[in-house]
Amino acid sequence: MTEQMSVPKFTKADRISGMALSQIVQLSEAANRRRAAGHDVLSFATGEPDFPTPPHICEAAIIAMKKGDTRYTPTAGTPALRDAIARHAHGDHGPENVIVSTGAKQVIANAFAATLNPGDEVIIPAPYWSTYVDTVQLFEGAPVIVNCDASQGFKISPAQLENAITPRTRWVMLNSPSNPTGAVYSSDELAALETVLLRHPHVWLLSDEIYEHICYVPFASCATAMLGLSDRLLVVNGVSKAHSMTGWRIGWGVGSPALIEAMTTVQGQITSGASSISQAAALAALEMASDHVDTRRATFRARRDIVIDRLNAVDGITCPEPDGAFYVFPSCAALISANTSLSDDADFCRHALETEGLVLVPGRAFGMPGHFRMSFAYGETDLLNGLDRLNDAALAAK
Ligand SMILES: Cc1ncc(COP(=O)(O)O)c(C=O)c1O
Repeated sequence: MTEQMSVPKFTKADRISGMALSQIVQLSEAANRRRAAGHDVLSFATGEPDFPTPPHICEAAIIAMKKGDTRYTPTAGTPALRDAIARHAHGDHGPENVIVSTGAKQVIANAFAATLNPGDEVIIPAPYWSTYVDTVQLFEGAPVIVNCDASQGFKISPAQLENAITPRTRWVMLNSPSNPTGAVYSSDELAALETVLLRHPHVWLLSDEIYEHICYVPFASCATAMLGLSDRLLVVNGVSKAHSMTGWRIGWGVGSPALIEAMTTVQGQITSGASSISQAAALAALEMASDHVDTRRATFRARRDIVIDRLNAVDGITCPEPDGAFYVFPSCAALISANTSLSDDADFCRHALETEGLVLVPGRAFGMPGHFRMSFAYGETDLLNGLDRLNDAALAAK
């Protein structure tokens, strides 16, 4: 008799054991199941512009393909794109300050992979884009979450920053305009945070400025508002949001040559560099006409105004006006406490999906329960329909 071979059980690496499928992914899967079952589902969950990539940018990619730009590029990006990024970035930079990666997301991953030792702390103001926390954990760092609620405009104060810094702090994350709140730091607010960081020379700042061009108040970059930190600052940006190029996967980091070199070492082993064709398209986005950026910003702003007015008219919901990005982050705490049938924000989002086919993301996915995130990167008809459904969901919860 042959002995029965047992199939070895699959085990994950310890470093990802705490990471679950993101709540946003879980929600969109629940929405897909409802859609497949024939229900009418309206989703405001995704974080990407609803506009197409402008035709001249697509054309630049086609030209690149036709002329044979189809090979590996230098790991840190093509010289032409790195040069253009250096010229367009805030502050005074050359190509040696720039790394091009497969989306802004990879820039952040490269930075943590290149700098975090186990247990190194990264200060993350909440609400946050959940990738920050997961990526810090992926590279065995320790996220230090600082709660920054609506009463402080969802922004970290200098005193909070000071209190959160320890000898183990390696990075502080800032994201302005913010996903999920749309909060924008003014240059005075950044200068006040800089004063704190100048007292702690071991702490570096990672400023995610991916929503720079979707900003309804004057935008301030950390690169110009925090000049005293230029040696320990990484600014992350890219074409995904400003030019509706989420699928092209091009983002970049601008920082000191030593940091960029370390990140390039990581990238060399992970992807060898970003797509040659997408880099040609990103170059066109930076160097050619970009009127679409202004037109689209105006459209987003008009949508924001509609959404804010209608949301604040819903009983139990309050929503501050976002100064940037294309999300609102309303509180549903009053609605929950007034309705015994709802236990928390996740429950409210589940209720909205089940009763109205409406997909919203619970605030706890961004480290702040009692809220939800709704994207307004959707057409006006869908937005108005969705806001009616939201009102009905709130009424049905009573
Ligand atoms: C705050 C923030 N940073 C970075 C990204 C990722 O950008 P990319 O698509 O270029 O990786 C997102 C995408 O949702 C985001 O919201």
